[in-house]
Amino acid sequence: MVQQTREQWGTRAGFLMAAIGSAVGLGNIWRFPYIAYDNGGGAFLVPYLIALLTAGIPLLILEYTLGHRYRSSAPLTYRRIWRPAEAIGWWQVAICFVIAIYYAVIVAWSLRFMGFSIGQQWGEDPDAFFFEDFLQASEGPGMVSGYVSAVAWPLIGVWVVVLVVLALGVRNGIEKANKIFIPILVVLFLALVVQALTLDGATTGLNALFTPDWSAMLDGGVWIAAYGQIFFSLSIGFAIMLTYASYLKRKTDLTGTAITAGLANSSFELLAGIGVFAALGFMATAADTAVDKVATSGIGLAFVAFPQIISTLPLGGALFGVLFFASLAIAGITSLISIVQVIVSAVQDRTGLGRVQTVSLVGGATALASILLFPTPEGLHFLDVFDHFINQYGIALAALVLIIVVGWGLRKLPMLERHADAISTVSLKLWWRIALGIITPILLGFMMWDSLRAELTENYEGYSTGFLLLAGWGVAIGAIVFGIIVSLFPWKKADQIAHTVDPDQEMKTAGIDPDKKEDR
Ligand code: PFF
Repeated sequence: MVQQTREQWGTRAGFLMAAIGSAVGLGNIWRFPYIAYDNGGGAFLVPYLIALLTAGIPLLILEYTLGHRYRSSAPLTYRRIWRPAEAIGWWQVAICFVIAIYYAVIVAWSLRFMGFSIGQQWGEDPDAFFFEDFLQASEGPGMVSGYVSAVAWPLIGVWVVVLVVLALGVRNGIEKANKIFIPILVVLFLALVVQALTLDGATTGLNALFTPDWSAMLDGGVWIAAYGQIFFSLSIGFAIMLTYASYLKRKTDLTGTAITAGLANSSFELLAGIGVFAALGFMATAADTAVDKVATSGIGLAFVAFPQIISTLPLGGALFGVLFFASLAIAGITSLISIVQVIVSAVQDRTGLGRVQTVSLVGGATALASILLFPTPEGLHFLDVFDHFINQYGIALAALVLIIVVGWGLRKLPMLERHADAISTVSLKLWWRIALGIITPILLGFMMWDSLRAELTENYEGYSTGFLLLAGWGVAIGAIVFGIIVSLFPWKKADQIAHTVDPDQEMKTAGIDPDKKEDR
């Protein structure tokens, strides 16, 4: 039976490292600093912490508990709860596919920029260097008009690493890789922050980031931004955490691990805010402008502003550049591994194929899609639109639907609470059910409404309606349709497993009383 052969993490620390590796990604380094700065600075930390406690950690616990209880990939887990809910799982698998294919290319750029930092090859104009010389980006979207091999080579390298790690398995691949990568990331990033803090103008940057604008707390948009950042940053709603938790041993402290992972991720995020704004403060001081003139996020921050900073540094520019781009690449690759594992584990459960076969087939197909589409002049526009739509109407919407179905429709939260409490150090009280059953869905609903409204009043980034229908709405809705269609196919083995394996029985076999509250 599939159950007995399911892989397992070697240790709880290994799982924790992998969970942190997934959570700490590009979002922490290039998204958080700017979101915090733009939404009230120091005052943003209040809604941010509230979002962490009322939605982030509770949702993380939900994903951990689902994965741990049913010990299956997302589609099979949901199916075991309610047959039609399987569709949500395949929908999340499709979302992960879309994200994986573009996220990998950003990791590839970071690797190339590590090299470029050494001789500061971007010269006088990093903006032109990145968009024109390196990416050879087209003016606007359209038919693919060429292939940029300078992007393709590092991208192929990234995929080779990801597929090899996945093929080695949960314990020998994912766990080992994270145990090596995460400590390296922490050391490199700490070195970067220390170097940034010694720069002239660092305090100006930190003041810009942390000076609180308390009036922001009355602004609904700031709260939406806080919840949005928490969701993305903790990798919630991708089914990543569910998948990783499905490889846990029966006796595992779920809530304690979720709280640790959540706090570790936020600490890294704060550290990134300090490093990035210290560097931006330096840049503003050197150019004699205000920090708000130089503060950006995302691609512009990493591949244009940072090269500028590196070139302006009187000393140690190359080192600073290597530290920064290596951190981006490592943070990105550990997240990429986790997202591809969602697809691999779903297909493995569905087909019964072995790990190496599945990784070659599905991982190979994902890599191929990524390698064909993104190292092209048009790749950047696809990336931009995929990213926007799949985040807004993929991850967040899937999380909302999941909570409504599992929490409201099927009323499974008390049962899941009992499951988590039987093995965890921190017992879930009423707050968990209130957070998940009321606060999270209302806020997610708000976020959805708010972004839909913006979408319908103005074309995202001024792209043509045709392109947005195809690459934006088409992809987001396509993922839903894919989920429904795949879930309609008969799945004999799943029924067998679902009928024979009783999670409570399994817990008892492992010596755990499923009704016991471990209030220690
Ligand atoms: N928490 C991740 C980040 O901050 O970048 C979110 C993520 C994105 C996870 C893409 C995995 C992934 F492939």
